[in-house]
Amino acid sequence: MEDYDAIVLGAGGAGLMAAAVAGQRGRRVVVLDHADAPGKKILISGGGRCNFTNLHATADRYLSANPHFAKSALGRYTAQDFLALVERHGITWHEKTLGQLFCDGSARQIVELLLGECEAGGVAVRLGASLGAIEHADARFTVAHGGRTHRAPALVVATGGPSIPKLGATGVAYDIARRFGLKVVEPRPALVPLTLPGSEALFRALSGVATAVEARVGKTRFAESALFTHRGLSGPAILQVSSYWRRGEDVAIDFRPNAAPGWLVEAKRARPRATLAGALGLPARLAEVLAERLGLGELGAASDRALAEAERRLADWRFHPDGSEGFAKAEVTVGGISTVELSSKTMEARKVPGLYAIGEAVDVTGWLGGYNFQWAWASGYAAGQAV
Ligand code: FDA
Repeated sequence: MEDYDAIVLGAGGAGLMAAAVAGQRGRRVVVLDHADAPGKKILISGGGRCNFTNLHATADRYLSANPHFAKSALGRYTAQDFLALVERHGITWHEKTLGQLFCDGSARQIVELLLGECEAGGVAVRLGASLGAIEHADARFTVAHGGRTHRAPALVVATGGPSIPKLGATGVAYDIARRFGLKVVEPRPALVPLTLPGSEALFRALSGVATAVEARVGKTRFAESALFTHRGLSGPAILQVSSYWRRGEDVAIDFRPNAAPGWLVEAKRARPRATLAGALGLPARLAEVLAERLGLGELGAASDRALAEAERRLADWRFHPDGSEGFAKAEVTVGGISTVELSSKTMEARKVPGLYAIGEAVDVTGWLGGYNFQWAWASGYAAGQAV
């Protein structure tokens, strides 16, 4: 039996952050993981450069059954705090767009930063063995792992969500939560490509074509680029709305989000011989498919009314996805351990003193663009300060 002050389950962003913070406060901490290397999702994130935070990471950019829950932790550990840590480690960075910060070099630098901070806190990181029995008695948790039994008054669940199982992701956080009587909000794949039915074969044939759009699900809208794939729709705008999309709902696309009202009739006046496809100012293959669907050729041959109707449809093109590419392709999971069960200040379960949940395991999911790592750092910091 090895005694610690805290056992952290999961050597991802949230778990390593919590362990480092607690260790540097003088706590004896062990991190346990079944993967053979720490931070595997960090390594593949942001195309290998890790979009490690977002300068606009406020609670309104997160999905949760309680939209206020994330405020406290995000307020006490901000994007600027993580950026200061990045700079202390001599990691150079750049802002790509929309407040998204990336390493100039490689995502590996972020994993090394976290491991360096853990080392500074004397944290033991144990990898490459399955989690065994987890017991709770006399205000102590015991966890078997790799032939040893670890015991501590605090257990931090940082095992993430089930997105990308081939990287070792599992839903074990939900099993642990349920076992301790905590509610779990139904997990769903998020930031995930959507699939289109066979009846949309014309669009699926556009695989590889990307264009700037505004995508909407219900009242939620994102102006970014969309990408057609051989299975359906992807690209940042679609990934963003996918987190809000429910089976059966439409995704509406505005193909000309910046066009002034009446632009097609204006185009006819200016260039009556132009075709609709030519006037759209979109990638040629896409423009041809849209013009074909709208049944319009030369602008001069179309009535103003027909052009106004075409304009309306182009601004509100309805796709009816038949599903998503699922957890196999989802960047994150919406849902998870219910925030109702947790203190927003410490991430400790109200019903089970000493049990904490952080990161993606919790029902807090960020937009695309560095928000999810900022949640991992902020919730990890909150628990690391409390254990
Ligand atoms: P995370 O999943 O990182 O860590 C959980 C740890 O628990 C893992 O080490 C895992 O091995 C371990 N574990 C799981 N089950 C276990 C079990 N049964 N037993 C033992 N250990 C277990 N976000 C962002 O902000 N910017 C970005 O650029 C990207 N890019 C990106 C790309 C891709 C391809 C993906 C899939 C995801 C992203 N994300 C992202 C999302 C981001 O990676 C994610 O939100 C965080 O990694 C979540 O951190 P956690 O520490 O909570 O979980």
